[in-house]
Amino acid sequence: MSTNLHLATVVLFFLTASQSGIAMARPMVPGARDPCAVSDFKVLCRSVVKGQKNVNAATEVSIRELMKRTIKAKQAAATGRKSGGGLKTCFSNYDNALENLQKALNNIKENDGFSLNINLSASLTQFDTCSDAMGGDKASNTVFAKSTSTLHEMADNCLALSTLVKQ
Ligand SMILES: *[C@@H]1O[C@H](CO)[C@@H](O)[C@H](O)[C@H]1NC(C)=O
Repeated sequence: MSTNLHLATVVLFFLTASQSGIAMARPMVPGARDPCAVSDFKVLCRSVVKGQKNVNAATEVSIRELMKRTIKAKQAAATGRKSGGGLKTCFSNYDNALENLQKALNNIKENDGFSLNINLSASLTQFDTCSDAMGGDKASNTVFAKSTSTLHEMADNCLALSTLVKQ
């Protein structure tokens, strides 16, 4: 009897805790209506997400768009990478970033918000490593330098959106 009573108390505790958790979380979720509200580069985010309210779908479409653009940037880097320098660094970092973004897509499917965050963080670091490497020869590669900063912003947005995906 006392064990049953104890169990009932524990169950009641969890029910109460989860209910109050939901009640408290609702007004505090800034992305509930517009997922891009949590992003740093909102205009860019909205141009990719296009009104999608579902956070998983919004994150997925953002990752796919980032991958598309990374593939193009990787092709652009491929031509000049033989001469070394920033383009060589960017080429290999884009390659690694694409792998991590593909993993991130799997993480969304598996509802693994934790790994999603880690894989997206890794890709953001790779985009930043490329941007840093390009810092020196910006003048001779203005178009490329601009694309590296867009990729950084998109990866940053993906990471922000991913925080809305259920852990
Ligand atoms: C990235 O995602 C994969 C699954 O697609 C997972 O196995 C891996 O652990 C994740 N990386 C990290 C560092 O969590």
